[in-house]
Amino acid sequence: MSTRVAVVTGSNKGIGLATVRALCKEFEGDVYLTARNVLKDSKSTKETNVLFVFHLQILVCVRLCVLGRVVNVSSMNCVSGLKKCSPDLQQRFRNENITEEELVELMQRFVDEAKKGEHKERGWTDGAYTVSKIGLTVLSVIHARRLTKERPNDGILLNACCPGWVRTDMAGPTAPKSPDEGAVTPVYLALLPSGAKEPHGKYLSDKEVQPW
Ligand SMILES: NC(=O)c1ccc[n+]([C@@H]2O[C@H](COP(=O)([O-])OP(=O)(O)OC[C@H]3O[C@@H](n4cnc5c(N)ncnc54)[C@H](OP(=O)(O)O)[C@@H]3O)[C@@H](O)[C@H]2O)c1
Repeated sequence: MSTRVAVVTGSNKGIGLATVRALCKEFEGDVYLTARNVLKDSKSTKETNVLFVFHLQILVCVRLCVLGRVVNVSSMNCVSGLKKCSPDLQQRFRNENITEEELVELMQRFVDEAKKGEHKERGWTDGAYTVSKIGLTVLSVIHARRLTKERPNDGILLNACCPGWVRTDMAGPTAPKSPDEGAVTPVYLALLPSGAKEPHGKYLSDKEVQPW
């Protein structure tokens, strides 16, 4: 019999580590803690420039994968940030037929316009982090749609979620939620029961599907 496996990226600390802790209690299988740095405090956001953060968030998002369940950890910033974008950008990001190529083109457009300091007048919200999370949420929608179309019998459920505002190195000590509380929604999505058909391709917070 094959062993069930859970893989949690970015799990040397913060919400990722709390997710590993919860899965070790609740998941019947092996849990892999994976991280870029072995030292807990080796990643300062302050040392990382805005555009690099943008790139890493879209490419190396904290992603949690449990046998047939994929969870991308996005942020509530994506919802509030999208509302601040121009109607044209909102329409393009919300288009249910948007392709990966179109999304990449939009992300590149943000980078180019931000480099020139023109992004706000071109209809973008401020902040590379926010735009990266919009991109991650839309990418989750696209990947879920492709799974449904290209691998309909695999039963894989893929979603994006917000953990809430959580006390971690990234968010600081004043946030209301503990890392264990922040892990609740990611773990819920990772452990959706066998045979579940939804949620899939959605954005959730507090275990509830949110309008996107
Ligand atoms: N905390 C909040 O309030 C909050 C709210 C909304 C969303 N989120 C999201 O939740 C996720 C986890 O954040 P957190 O609050 O738990 O932060 P954290 O405690 O600072 O942990 C961040 C994790 O991401 C890893 N990481 C950062 N840059 C990386 C890179 N370039 N390549 C590979 N790994 C990288 C870090 O690894 P290293 O140790 O190697 O740097 C660390 O494991 C993030 O996606 C964040 O945007 C957090």
